[in-house]
Amino acid sequence: MSNSEMEQRKGRRLVLFPLPLQGHINPMLDLANILHSRGFSITIIHTTFNSPEPSNYPHFAFRFISENLPEHHRTCCKTDLVAFLSMLNTKCGPPFRDCLTDLLSDASEEPIACLISDAILYFTQDVASELKLPRLVLRTGAASSFCVFSAFPLLKEKGYLPIQDSRLDEPVVELPPLRVKDLPSIHTNDPEDLYNLVNSMVSQSKASSGIIWNTFQELEPTALETLHQQLGVPLFPIGPFHKRFAATSSPSGPLTHDGTCIPWLDKQVPQSVVYVGFGSLATISKTQFLEIAWGLANSNQPFLWVVRPDLIHGSDWLEPLPNGFLEALGGRGHIVKWAPQQQVLTHPSVGAFWTHNGWNSTLESICEGVPMICMPCFTDQRVNARFVSEVWGIGLQLEKGVERGEIERTIKRLMVEKEGENIRERMLCLKEKSDHCLSRDGFSRQSSDNLVRHILLLES
Ligand code: UDX
Repeated sequence: MSNSEMEQRKGRRLVLFPLPLQGHINPMLDLANILHSRGFSITIIHTTFNSPEPSNYPHFAFRFISENLPEHHRTCCKTDLVAFLSMLNTKCGPPFRDCLTDLLSDASEEPIACLISDAILYFTQDVASELKLPRLVLRTGAASSFCVFSAFPLLKEKGYLPIQDSRLDEPVVELPPLRVKDLPSIHTNDPEDLYNLVNSMVSQSKASSGIIWNTFQELEPTALETLHQQLGVPLFPIGPFHKRFAATSSPSGPLTHDGTCIPWLDKQVPQSVVYVGFGSLATISKTQFLEIAWGLANSNQPFLWVVRPDLIHGSDWLEPLPNGFLEALGGRGHIVKWAPQQQVLTHPSVGAFWTHNGWNSTLESICEGVPMICMPCFTDQRVNARFVSEVWGIGLQLEKGVERGEIERTIKRLMVEKEGENIRERMLCLKEKSDHCLSRDGFSRQSSDNLVRHILLLES
């Protein structure tokens, strides 16, 4: 059957179930758009928690399930993410099974080809198997960090996990160039909970009918080859997802993009601005906030800084800043609550991205050729940051915590020194590769064709 013949076989429905966190909802909705453009109809099952606005996606059908989380567990996605994710996997089971059963039994609708759910929602594998529906996994993070997750049993056996403070600078010889401090960790009451969550994610991904990655072959060839050998299921690296469509002006989450960012960037010198943003979940202390503020002020570069209302522990927004701080900079600094990040990164005034290295932010930066300053906070961000600075050579990592002197020096190294020029050149090479992978003969395009073919051949 040719590609076009297969794509004419419309009447196939896909059910997608994202993890309800911003960094996971966005790529799942992008994937939904990609598959919709290939002739599939899309039904999104979503928790009522953090739900996207359906009217922004009139071409998709939505079903909402109540995740049954007590209020204190809803808020703990910021304080104990592991507890939140474990709870989601437990509590969503019954409503998700009911919803999927209902969709499967609706004879007035097209037949469902498969479920595509986030790798972290590992409970969905058992539900899909029970209902005899194939499940594909979407892994929204990098392949390289998944290699580290799949090595957790080995890392535990070798004594790297749980992480001990006395060993932070030691190399992890089994996973070069990682050091112990680059291993995924996360603040949680019991480190064993993270270990179990990660192992369940990996084992249930292995049990699936295939894994879709928001990455591209030329970026992570070694990790993809390793996973190909280890996991034993088809892999579809079809990223970067967000470059398939124009940047959306309507965010899928609860925060509204600040409309002042682009006009402010328009007034700046090309490649002069440091864009600073730490994603949707990371939090910092008041002390760290002030070190960042003074580091930016002392760098003498213009900066656009996203300070979410819940970014700083114990503060509503910018209260810790000394009076007159921004005014004294004479317009050199602009602070917003949430930015249209993808548009910001495409702006010619932006010369660097100071990021927490969530995978979406990392990939968005690569796609626009913007070098990074890396300040990973938790989980996969640490692995991503190490790859950015040491493997791809497209950024500098803040190694001494959050300290104004190091911040000022690092910004200067990247923005004005020869070292920064070299980093920028390497970044532009990688950007070209990211452009190429989406071209007609690019690997991600071919991989997308393979994915469509794979879905159409899945047996329910
Ligand atoms: C979370 C985890 O923190 C991260 O480790 C994992 O890789 C993905 O899930 P998050 O903290 O949300 O991610 O960061 P990131 O992956 O970078 O995603 C943030 C998304 O929000 C990006 O798509 C970014 O463009 C968008 N964003 C961020 C905005 O649109 N505006 C902003 O001001 C900040």
